Amino acid sequence: MQSEKFLSAKPHDVPTILLATRNRHKTREIQTMLGDGVLVIDATQIDHLPEIEETGVTFEENSKLKAEGISRVMEGIVLADDSGIEVDALGREPGVYSARYSGPGCTDEQNTALVLEKMAGVPQEQRTARFRCVLAVAEGGKTLAVFDGTVEGILATEVKGDGGFGYDPIFMPLGYDHTFGELSSEIKHSMSHRSRALAQFKQWWALRG
Ligand code: IMP
Repeated sequence: MQSEKFLSAKPHDVPTILLATRNRHKTREIQTMLGDGVLVIDATQIDHLPEIEETGVTFEENSKLKAEGISRVMEGIVLADDSGIEVDALGREPGVYSARYSGPGCTDEQNTALVLEKMAGVPQEQRTARFRCVLAVAEGGKTLAVFDGTVEGILATEVKGDGGFGYDPIFMPLGYDHTFGELSSEIKHSMSHRSRALAQFKQWWALRG
């Protein structure tokens, strides 16, 4: 168990949650949403953590794989986020392949360009899409709980805005004609898939004491 390094990453006497990700955008969003009462650290801050292969075909399978895999070698609660965008006209692709939709090592820009290219000419009423986030919490290699959050929306026809990350600049949440890339992070966090899943995690965490 790598408990020493994990615990030494804790500068103050606040509960620490290890997020099983190397995606700093996810860490930043989850830290902002949980507030100062919790310190969120991630896999970029700990040496020699195993790489967990995302071999699942659902968000739930992959989030459990990540949370369980990391919690086998680290003490304490491990949280994992598996998330992505589902575009109905693409048969719910990219889905669990959102991060690697245009191939290994691809960028967010390449992924959004590929989705826009595949959706070229598709009329507004058929551009429905949603972001999904499944959070799994594990300890000692076992999943303790799983939480699911969704936000429905429409796929834009071009990249708009430079806020957020990933597919944010091409996703307009229902009720807005601006993308998450254009909307403030406060608006995104008030309705996002991640904040909805995290609200359930917070309740679970509070009840756990
Ligand atoms: P994962 O690391 O396998 O869960 O892949 C997540 C991928 O889904 C990210 O790399 C993004 O491409 C996309 N994604 C997840 N959440 C968001 C979000 O809040 N905004 C934009 N894209 C997201």
